[in-house]
Amino acid sequence: MKLGVVILAAGQGSRMRSNRPKVLHELAGKSLLAHVVDTTEAIHSELTTVVYGHGGEQVKAALSQRQLAWCEQKEQLGTGHAVMQAIPSLADVDSVLVLYGDVPLIAAETLNKLLKAAEETALALLTVKLDNPTGYGRIIRDTAGRVSKIVEQKDANASELAVNEVNTGILAVNRAALERWLDRTNNHNAQEEYYLTDIIELAVSDGVDVATVSPASEEEVMGVNDRVQLAHLERHYQRAQADAIMRAGVTLADPSRFDLRGTLSTGRDVVIDINVVIEGDVELGDCVTIGPNSLLKNSKIGANTEILANCVIDEAEVGASSVIGPFARLRPESRLAEKTKVGNFVEIKKSDIGVGSKVNHLSYVGDATVGSNVNIGAGVITCNYDGANKSRTIIGDDVFVGSDSQLIAPVEIGAGSTIGAGSTITRNTPASKLSLSRAKQLTIDGWQRPVKKSKDK
Ligand code: UD1
Ligand code: CA
Repeated sequence: MKLGVVILAAGQGSRMRSNRPKVLHELAGKSLLAHVVDTTEAIHSELTTVVYGHGGEQVKAALSQRQLAWCEQKEQLGTGHAVMQAIPSLADVDSVLVLYGDVPLIAAETLNKLLKAAEETALALLTVKLDNPTGYGRIIRDTAGRVSKIVEQKDANASELAVNEVNTGILAVNRAALERWLDRTNNHNAQEEYYLTDIIELAVSDGVDVATVSPASEEEVMGVNDRVQLAHLERHYQRAQADAIMRAGVTLADPSRFDLRGTLSTGRDVVIDINVVIEGDVELGDCVTIGPNSLLKNSKIGANTEILANCVIDEAEVGASSVIGPFARLRPESRLAEKTKVGNFVEIKKSDIGVGSKVNHLSYVGDATVGSNVNIGAGVITCNYDGANKSRTIIGDDVFVGSDSQLIAPVEIGAGSTIGAGSTITRNTPASKLSLSRAKQLTIDGWQRPVKKSKDK
């Protein structure tokens, strides 16, 4: 059985009040549509067609890396019309699963259940019972409990409106039958739209026993129409991720103040304080602790390392048993070995820092290779940029760089050497010696401070 998926994404999303197409708004750092596409990959869809309308070029560009077929619905004439646009692209699939680009949290397990139900019959619907069914299409069943049709809110009579089982819109259907039924739909209804839901009645009249399946949670089938609903689903999703992380052995100081926008892999006994944001792919070794208010993005932190409060760590690697922060910034391509220390208001960029080295206060280390057991004093700057080109600074093992020194790259500081505080180092320094560039201190005898002139009144 070859499966094709159609993702409906042509709606305008006017209630978002946004210049961005609705399906490109992000949930946990990923567009709504990308969430749905990822789920189609999880269920091994062989062909996924996105029906787009508003902002189509933007949507296509945003998902250009994905294996998708695209088809335009020029006018939004209804969900049935939208699926019709995709029919030509589905010529060689056996069954079709219809998903919505603005229903991001539909789970692969639920879809697999639905597809399984559709193996037995030509049409399976995903339905849910809601306390307040207002706005949704109602699932109408006969006295024997078999589905007979779906009636849209605007077309429903009083007894139909009282039904609380609703259509989520998601369904699985035999492709050939779908094509046949769609050919027979019309727009003779309250909204003058071609309703996909009209195929249900046609299926029943063809003697099809329509199957129904329910999702594990309501949030799985909730659509995003405005930013309030988006925020609701974001918090729901984050809470589910936080629970999974805690079950994997991580202590979260407050699961409602933790955000994961990507993937996090963790060792044992990791502790994460409040307001930590994780983006991209992050790896934390055993017993890592992350202080409050830190952002970690595409980074790897070794076992027993402490990230103190308010750090920003972006595309960096930190070795085991290190201490970073508070208020440190590690920028891309920073690789810190084991037992390193990076303190407050230190910025490190594209640099390797060797085992046991320390950069404790107020420094900038960029485009540098720093050996092991180096001590970089407060306020040291690697001057890596001359306004046109970047150059490297190489610091050997066991170097001591005195506070407030500038190392004008390209420059090499020999192993074991000491740089006197306040130096501006422009030439390579020899190993194991003291180098410094500092004006001699002098004292002026008999000098007097200026005094204020008395003003005439
Ligand atoms: C639809 C269902 C309704 C169900 C509800 C669930 C129909 C006729 N009704 O109603 O039974 O309870 O979803 O949310 O199917 N879209 C297009 N092109 C169109 C129209 C819609 O791509 O011409 C897309 C929208 O972008 C959206 C989805 O289809 O992702 C649903 O459209 P929407 O207008 O929200 O459908 P409802 O009227 O709410
Ligand atoms: Ca809707």
